[in-house]
Amino acid sequence: TAPLIIAVDGPAASGKGTIAARLARTYGLPHLDTGLLYRAVGVGVLDASGSLDDEAAAVAVARALKAESLQDADRLTSGEAGEAASRVAGYPGVRAALLEFQRAFAAQPGGAVLDGRDIGTVIAPDAPAKLFITATPEVRARRRWKQLTGRGDVIAYEDMLADIMRRDERDAGRGAAPMVQAEDAVLLDTTDMDIETAFDAARRIVEAAR
Ligand code: C5P
Repeated sequence: TAPLIIAVDGPAASGKGTIAARLARTYGLPHLDTGLLYRAVGVGVLDASGSLDDEAAAVAVARALKAESLQDADRLTSGEAGEAASRVAGYPGVRAALLEFQRAFAAQPGGAVLDGRDIGTVIAPDAPAKLFITATPEVRARRRWKQLTGRGDVIAYEDMLADIMRRDERDAGRGAAPMVQAEDAVLLDTTDMDIETAFDAARRIVEAAR
């Protein structure tokens, strides 16, 4: 049988990360959260006290990225890291530096699950199963706010919503691999779904595609 590659794309806090992780467990596949790569580059540039406007610095960090840089979960999942990620993700040189690693991950013999913004369009355009997972900005902001305040971060819901809308606009509007639903991806809107319902729907989409 052909390797099962599952491409999961969509905006922040749509549920794509959780769904991708659960699909990976269900099918016994390795999972790569590609947002972590961009987050690690963003944080790396901030730590080098470089400016996020400095494309050359961002490309250098991306080229030198090591697996250890993906370990600091608390830092990488912060709002600061998400914002920095979306800034450096607009640089074609950064995307090029991260491309081979992602392609190789997707090409593992048994298949893989990858989630991000451009998996179905750029990283694994031939993936048999593609999902584009969305929800309204308000619902996504509420989810992310709960998650971050739940672990003690201090942030106002209104700021969270503004962050999410700004990030959506930047990710969808950039020239290099913009966030867009692949033509052959199945749209899953999780606005009115809890995670169980959303996961069941995602699993059915994969079953129908494989
Ligand atoms: O998914 P996550 O919120 O972790 O992604 C952080 C940022 O990284 C996104 O806002 C986006 O700009 C960038 N990204 C990307 N392509 C991917 C994954 C993430 O441009 N495949």
